[in-house]
Amino acid sequence: MSHLLITGASQLLTLRGRAPRRGKALSDLGMLRDGALLIRDGLIAAVGARPEIESLPESRSAEKIDVGGRVVLPGVVDSHTHLIHAASRAEEYELKIAGASYEEIARKGGGILNSVKKLRAATADALKRRAHAALREFAAHGTTTLEAKSGYGLDVASELKILRLHKELSAEQALEIVSTFLGAHVVPAEYRRKPRGTEQYIALLTDELIPEVAAEKLAEFCDVFCDRGAFSRKDSKKILEAGKKHGLAPRVHAEQLTRTGATQLAVQLGAASCDHLEQVSKADIRALAESNTVATLLPGCDFHLGLKQYAPARALIDAGAVVALATDYNPGTSPTMSMPMILSLACTQLRMSPAEAIAAATINTAYSLRREKQIGSIETGKQADLAVFDVEDYREIPYYFGVNKCWMTLKKGRPVFQKAHT
Ligand code: NIG
Ligand code: FE
Repeated sequence: MSHLLITGASQLLTLRGRAPRRGKALSDLGMLRDGALLIRDGLIAAVGARPEIESLPESRSAEKIDVGGRVVLPGVVDSHTHLIHAASRAEEYELKIAGASYEEIARKGGGILNSVKKLRAATADALKRRAHAALREFAAHGTTTLEAKSGYGLDVASELKILRLHKELSAEQALEIVSTFLGAHVVPAEYRRKPRGTEQYIALLTDELIPEVAAEKLAEFCDVFCDRGAFSRKDSKKILEAGKKHGLAPRVHAEQLTRTGATQLAVQLGAASCDHLEQVSKADIRALAESNTVATLLPGCDFHLGLKQYAPARALIDAGAVVALATDYNPGTSPTMSMPMILSLACTQLRMSPAEAIAAATINTAYSLRREKQIGSIETGKQADLAVFDVEDYREIPYYFGVNKCWMTLKKGRPVFQKAHT
């Protein structure tokens, strides 16, 4: 048995108690001052006031880490990423700055289709190397679990290649990867040229790919990009229902560029999460508030695309929806692995308080991945996934931006990132 004792936290944010967090409870961080925790074999064995934890018999012989007056919180859970892609789209970034819109670029064969072309041409090895480098960046910013979507393959072989890479990457490094099938990202170019191509591509997804993904246990969730230029609400329903039939729980890219009614569909289907939500209506907000479908906000997209309309976080929180935050790490709309940057945007652009942002990025994202019993808070019996930030006050985590204040990240009690001494 191995024991690790962690002391010296100026603030220990436990996030203990009810999950998920809604309304006023979203700002309850369960903070301990001068708290400590004891880890046994990668799990949290005890957490509480330092004198009490230090006096436990197992603490005496434990290995010790003194975090020197820094802030300790649960490892950050990033519940929306497009981890596997072949290359950046810096060329489109430049076009966007010059005035082209995301949709204009997509209509000219750029956008998602540009990434599809690049991914199909890439070897599995090259994709894996890029993903490993990204995972190191995630760990360096405090993330210990992340969701990863396919969706830049869009043919049988390439989609399966991506999902199998999720599995291999999970086995080869410490961060936990939760796999989502997003064959319904857009209709690929070769089907756009055919009459009834959309219908045929949807049939490929529902009759071939989804059954195969489920049989090989390559994903837990099935996602659809329901928007103008992607899939309609009717098509999304077909695809998500096929996923459900095969045991893949729904997640939806909803109301990002236009309002399609995807949120209400997600709620009706009991989706785990509904993501983006820049264009939601009042009725959509009410539907989310009355459901267990998580409203996952991705302010990195609006920031990167230079858009002014962020999702109505305050209205969602006040209505009682379960609000979560994620990076949406992807080459087209949000090329960042930094959850602390997302917290900064959540505070300044979404008007969330620092406490709300932290709860939204830990316990609520864990809930959206259906892992709130294992991760997302620092409580006895849970995984010892921790992030330590080089600040004295948790509000300084979103306050600083463009610099990395993460000092140490632990996954199941083992350091996976440690800042070099400067
Ligand atoms: O979450 N909206 C759809 N998918 C991504 C963008 C993908 C891309 O542009 O490559 C998103 O924003
Ligand atoms: Fe996305």
